[in-house]
Amino acid sequence: MKPIPLLPSMTNRNIRFCILYIAVFAVVLLLLSFVSPAGSCSEQDSRSLLQFLAGLSQDGGLTTSWRPDVDCCTAWEGVSCGRDGMVTKVSLPSRGLHGCISPLSVANLTSLTHLNLSDNALSGSLPPELMSSLSLLVIDVSFNHLDGVLLLPWPMNTGLKLPLQVLNISSNRFAGEFPSNLSWNAIANLVMLNASNNSFTGEMPIAPLCNGSPSSSLAVLDLSDNRFNGEVSPEIASCSMLKVLNVAHNKLTGILPIKLFDVTSLEHLSFADNDLQGEIDGAHITKLTNLVTPDLGENSFHGEISESIGQLKKLEELRLDNNYMSGDLPSSLGNCTCLTTIDLKINKFSGDLGKVDFTSLHNLKILDVMRNIFSGVIPESIYSCKNLTALRISSNHMHGKIPVWLAKLKKLKVLDLSNNQLTSPMPSWINSLSNLFYLDVSNNSLTGNIPVTLMAMPMLESDNYEAHLTRLFDLPVYRISALRQYLALTSFPALLNISTNKFTGVIPQDIGQLSALSQLDFSRNKLHGEIPPAICNLTKLQVLDLSSNYLTGPIPEALNKLNFLSEFNISNNDLEGPIPTGGQMSTFSSSSFVGNPKLCGSILANCNSVKAAPTVLTTSGKQCSSEVISVIAFGVFFGVGVLYDQLVLSNYLDM
Ligand SMILES: *[C@@H]1O[C@H](CO)[C@@H](O)[C@H](O)[C@H]1NC(C)=O
Ligand SMILES: *[C@@H]1O[C@H](CO)[C@@H](O)[C@H](O)[C@H]1NC(C)=O
Ligand SMILES: *[C@@H]1O[C@H](CO)[C@@H](O)[C@H](O)[C@H]1NC(C)=O
Ligand SMILES: *[C@@H]1O[C@H](CO)[C@@H](O)[C@H](O)[C@H]1NC(C)=O
Ligand SMILES: *[C@@H]1O[C@H](CO)[C@@H](O)[C@H](O)[C@H]1NC(C)=O
Ligand SMILES: *[C@@H]1O[C@H](CO)[C@@H](O)[C@H](O)[C@H]1NC(C)=O
Repeated sequence: MKPIPLLPSMTNRNIRFCILYIAVFAVVLLLLSFVSPAGSCSEQDSRSLLQFLAGLSQDGGLTTSWRPDVDCCTAWEGVSCGRDGMVTKVSLPSRGLHGCISPLSVANLTSLTHLNLSDNALSGSLPPELMSSLSLLVIDVSFNHLDGVLLLPWPMNTGLKLPLQVLNISSNRFAGEFPSNLSWNAIANLVMLNASNNSFTGEMPIAPLCNGSPSSSLAVLDLSDNRFNGEVSPEIASCSMLKVLNVAHNKLTGILPIKLFDVTSLEHLSFADNDLQGEIDGAHITKLTNLVTPDLGENSFHGEISESIGQLKKLEELRLDNNYMSGDLPSSLGNCTCLTTIDLKINKFSGDLGKVDFTSLHNLKILDVMRNIFSGVIPESIYSCKNLTALRISSNHMHGKIPVWLAKLKKLKVLDLSNNQLTSPMPSWINSLSNLFYLDVSNNSLTGNIPVTLMAMPMLESDNYEAHLTRLFDLPVYRISALRQYLALTSFPALLNISTNKFTGVIPQDIGQLSALSQLDFSRNKLHGEIPPAICNLTKLQVLDLSSNYLTGPIPEALNKLNFLSEFNISNNDLEGPIPTGGQMSTFSSSSFVGNPKLCGSILANCNSVKAAPTVLTTSGKQCSSEVISVIAFGVFFGVGVLYDQLVLSNYLDM
C-alpha cells in the first residue's frame, strides 16, 4: 500500500516556516494557560455533567460541545471552572432544554456556586439535593415547567448553615402548600426568594422564612401571582431586613397586621389585588420611612389618606386604586417631592383636588384620579409638573374650562378629561401639546367649533407615532382573571374623542392630516356639513364614529378603503345616497347606518328601489383616490420606511 501523504509536497523553507508557526502557537497557548482562570476539568465533575445531560430529553444541541474527549472547563458551553478544574458555574438559560434535572449529577458538583437553568422546558420536581448543596449560592430555575410540591431537604443537623443566597423558582408550575419544615433554619443565608407566578396555596410562608434565625437575612421576597390565602401573619415583623415584599395577585384576606409597620427596611411593598380590608392607619404607615413604591390597589381598603403621608419623603409611586377610600386628599401629599406616579383611580375620594399643591411635584409623570368624586376646577398648580405624561381626571365632577396652563405640559402624551362638567370651547393652543396622542374630552359640555389647530396635532399628524409605541405606559391594567394574565396596555391607541359635547360647525377638511389616528369619535355633537372625503387619508383608523350629528351629503366612496376599520357608526345623521359596496363598508351591519332616511343600500330595507352605483366615483371619491395614489408613490419612493411602519403597526395590532 502506498502511504497517503499527510502534507502535499513542500519546500524545506515552507516546512521551516510551519515549524516556527507551530512553536509560536504553542508558546501562546502556554502563556494563555497561565492567564486563564480555569484549570483542566475534574474528571468527576465532567462525569456529573454528562449525567445531567443524560437526564435531558432534548439538550438544545449541547452534545456538540459537551464531548467527553474535550476539556469541560474550556470547551463546554455554559460551564465555568475554578483554577482547580472544579466546575463552579453552569449557566444554560434559554437553551431549549427539556427533561428532568438529574438530582445526583448536580449534587455531585461539589464546587458549583451558580446554577442558571432559567427559561427552558425542564419538568418534574426540583431536586431537594440542590437546595441542600454545600456549595450553591445561586439557583435560578425560573420560567420552566417544574411542578409538584416544593421539596426541602430533610431536616438538617442543627447548626448546619447552607450557603444558598438566591433562589428563583418563579414562573413554574409548583403547587400545594409552601413547605414549612425546619429545614428553612438551615437555609439561613437566603437573601432573595422569588416564588412568584406558581400555584402555591395555603398561608404566606412568613414564619418559616423569617423566624428561623433571629437575624433573617431575607431582603427580597416575591410571592406574587399565586393562590396564597388567609391573613398576613404578624410574624412578618421578624423579617427585619426585608426591602422588597410582593404578595400581589393572591387571595389574602383580613387586615394588615400592625407588626408589618415594624419592618422599617421595606422599600417596595405590594399587596395589590387581594381581598384585604380595613383602614390604612396613617400613624402606622409613616413608620415605614424607606417606603418607595407602596401598592395596595385592588383590595377593599377604606378610610382616608392621612395627613402624615407627607413624612414619607422617599415615596415614588403611590398606588391605592380600586378600593373604597374616601375623603379629601391631604395637602401634605405635596411634600412627597419624589412622587412619579399617583394612582387613586376608582375610589370614593372627594373634595377639591386643588387642596394638594402640586407645585413641588416636579417628578410627577402619571396622575390618575379617574372615577372618584373630586370637584372644583383642575388645579392650576399641576402646571408645575413639567414631566407629566399622563393626566386622567375622567369621571369626576370637575367643572370650568381646560385650563390654559395645560399648554405648558409639553410632555403630556395622554389627556383624559372625559365624563366631567367642563365648559368652554376647545382651546386653540391644543396643538402646542406636541407629544399628545390620546385626547379624550368626551361627555362634557364643550362648545364652539372644532378648532383647526386640533387638526394639526404634531403626534397625530406624523409617522413618529409608531416610533413611540414602545414607550412603557401602564396607566390602565385590564385583567383577564380566568387566565391570570395582566394585559398592561403598554401603549394607548392614537385617539381623538370629543363625543357627547356641544360642538357645532363642520368637520374641518384638514382632518386628513391626522394620519396616525386609530380611533376617531365625534359622535353626539351638533356638527353639520358633509363628511370630508379627506377622512379616507386616515388609513390606520380602526374606529370611526360620527353618529348623532346633523351631517348631510353622501358617504365618501373612499371610506371603503379604510381596511383596518372594525367599528364604524354614522347612524342618526341626515346623510343621503348609496352606501358604497364591495369594500370595507359592506362588513358593517345596518346599525352603523340607521337613522339616515335618505341613505340607500341593500342592508337598509327601506330603499331597495334605488340602485346603488358602486363603480361610479363621486367627485369627492376621485379626489381621494388621487391622494391615495400620491401617497402610494411617496411610499414606493420611501419603501423601506413604509415597510417599517407596517411592521411596527402589525405588531401593535397583534398586541
Ligand atoms: C458522585 O460522587 C461519588 C463519590 O465522589 C461517586 O461515587 C458517584 O459515582 C458520583 N455520582 C455521579 C452520578 O457522578
Ligand atoms: C440567568 O440567566 C438569565 C438570562 O441570561 C438572566 O436574565 C438571569 O439574571 C440569570 N439569573 C441569575 C440569578 O443571574
Ligand atoms: C431570578 O432572581 C434573581 C434574583 O433576583 C435575579 O437576579 C434573576 O435575574 C432572576 N431570573 C430571571 C430570569 O429573571
Ligand atoms: C420574580 O420573577 C418574575 C419572573 O418570573 C419577575 O418578573 C419578577 O420581577 C421577579 N421578582 C423580583 C422581586 O425580582
Ligand atoms: C408566568 O409563567 C408563565 C409560564 O412559565 C409565563 O409564560 C408567563 O410569562 C409568566 N408571567 C409572568 C408575569 O412572568
Ligand atoms: C357622562 O358623565 C356623567 C357625569 O358627568 C355620567 O354620570 C354619565 O354616566 C356619563 N355618560 C356616559 C354615556 O358615559
